[in-house]
Amino acid sequence: MIAPIEQTLAGLRARTALWRRAYETIGVVPTMGALHQGHLSLARAARARCDRVIVTIFVNPKQFNNPDDLENYPRTEEDDARKLESIGVDLIYVPGPDQIYPDGFATTVTVAGLTDMLCGATRPGHFDGVATVVPKLFLQTSADFAFFGEKDYQQLQVVRRLAADLDIPIEVIGCPTIREEDGLAMSSRNLLLSDRSRIKAPVLAEVMEEMRDALLSGATMGALTPDAKARILHAGFSDIDYLELRGGEDLQLLNQTKPGARIFAAAWLAGVRLIDNIAV
Ligand code: PAF
Repeated sequence: MIAPIEQTLAGLRARTALWRRAYETIGVVPTMGALHQGHLSLARAARARCDRVIVTIFVNPKQFNNPDDLENYPRTEEDDARKLESIGVDLIYVPGPDQIYPDGFATTVTVAGLTDMLCGATRPGHFDGVATVVPKLFLQTSADFAFFGEKDYQQLQVVRRLAADLDIPIEVIGCPTIREEDGLAMSSRNLLLSDRSRIKAPVLAEVMEEMRDALLSGATMGALTPDAKARILHAGFSDIDYLELRGGEDLQLLNQTKPGARIFAAAWLAGVRLIDNIAV
């Protein structure tokens, strides 16, 4: 059965009030739609853990630093609802912009430190947009658990930080990245790749895996990075925003691996920005 779709905050609250009164736990999966197996795995994790599951779909204008990117972001709402059918979510919340940013909205949440590097350095304002909308979705849904993919690992750390800092009573759960058979991390942006670019895209993950193996054998990022970048560019990527090793919690830059370290990458393929990260 297709889950009911709620478009207003009042309607959402009317439903969650009934669930709360019955002492049911609520899990939320915040998304911007264009759902793929990665999102569905988050919805399944929520289904397994919570009495009630809400998937939110809101293409948040505040986190797009580039108007073309916002305009081109895939919007596939009906398909999204159908994809969620087999999982049995309880509600799909698709708020209009006025339900999130009503007239006079004037608050911005900034998470310092964690947002200075990686995607924060190349996408100014992006994490302020994320950090402003996510607590709203937490508070609007009054969820007990929230599910985020490790694919957006920096986002996951930012969300954990803000939930702790703002005393939002929610447990943030990170779920593993889901990959295509050829290793490409699933992302709504993959839909924007032409067939020719799609064939080249897995090189990013391939190079990162080779770097991981070399790091585990004692190599340093200083020694590995020039060659790794050259391989990515040679495969057809036009630009690399970053290819770095960082601590998994504080995201501080590393040259040699240590427990919890991850390799992070963002690179452009035919005008599409792909990001990925893997544990070392
Ligand atoms: O990861 C996303 O899709 C978005 O950044 C999120 C968490 C739904 C906030 O808009």
